[in-house]
Amino acid sequence: MQRIFSGIQPSGVPTLGNYLGAMRNWVPLQDTHDCIYCVVDLHAITQWQEPAQLATQTREMAASLLACGIDPRRSILFLQSQVAAHVRLAWIFECVARLGWLNRMTQFKDKAGRNTENVSAGLYTYPVLMAADILAYKATRVPVGDDQRQHLELANDIAQKFNHDYGTEFFPAIEGLIMGPAARVMSLRDGSKKMSKSDPSDQSRINLNDSADDIAQKIRRAKTDPEPLPSELQGLEGRPEARNLVGIYAALADTDHASVLREWGGQGFAAFKPALADLLVAKLEPIAMEARRLLADSAYVDQVLREGAERAAAIADPIVAEAMRLVGFLKT
Ligand code: TYM
Repeated sequence: MQRIFSGIQPSGVPTLGNYLGAMRNWVPLQDTHDCIYCVVDLHAITQWQEPAQLATQTREMAASLLACGIDPRRSILFLQSQVAAHVRLAWIFECVARLGWLNRMTQFKDKAGRNTENVSAGLYTYPVLMAADILAYKATRVPVGDDQRQHLELANDIAQKFNHDYGTEFFPAIEGLIMGPAARVMSLRDGSKKMSKSDPSDQSRINLNDSADDIAQKIRRAKTDPEPLPSELQGLEGRPEARNLVGIYAALADTDHASVLREWGGQGFAAFKPALADLLVAKLEPIAMEARRLLADSAYVDQVLREGAERAAAIADPIVAEAMRLVGFLKT
């Protein structure tokens, strides 16, 4: 079985973007792959996190993943900071990656904005740690949203340069699995911006713990244009907000943009938005309820994470030990 690795930052409540672009796609992969899923708390602190809040959000993120259907009997679910192999390999990779490669990362530019002198060094080397996350397990498939494409290319560049420099075929090639009609969910306020946990406006996103009323209200207020929905795909060109809502509907209804337009073409947003809100509530409410139930017994969630970390370390430790040997670190 091919090995899957993916991660999510506990830097806030998971959004609809995280759910449709990643979390939901992780579930069926458990049937066909050996899956390792990680709450990447080390990545989260590349931007400031209040300590007490980080701890709470980390446990809540794990509960949300379990509630979505990550099954700890079949998959490994764990916290990145509990497996030391990640940082060990990340340091080696920092010495393999070139500054010029990191300078090209668009996500760093987006997150740093005009503030490049005053963001953390960790934000800059973020994708190097991400490469280490994946390659510490020699995972070959990585299910992520569309925004992670460039980071996966960088991970492949690092693996190749390591193999070349040390004259080995040690690290495998990585393939991104970018799945479904909502691999890039956009902000509800601005169809040109990605929906994000860290957007200052809560109106820009649906959170997985939003109430039915919040969801209905956010969808009602979501930015759109005055035209009715088109019947064909070409009609979505130049209409990013309409495309976004149709993509969300398609993902939730397990279909694609074209069939949503076949059903809804010619109708206005006054009809489409309430149907979309109903669909969102029907899909998200059971997940939020299950996450709340799991959090009522945090000992269970913590035990899953503890066992997950042990199982993860059992895979990563020997791989990273071998990478260290290849580098020439003396083992006494
Ligand atoms: P994070 O927490 O920012 O996002 C977690 C996952 O959600 C996807 N995603 C989206 N998909 C569609 N539309 C959106 N608006 C949207 N926003 C987020 C992301 O693509 C991601 O799949 N760097 C990773 C975390 C990470 C990781 C890894 C992933 C750390 N190490 C190793 C894979 C393998 C991230 O973006 O987290």
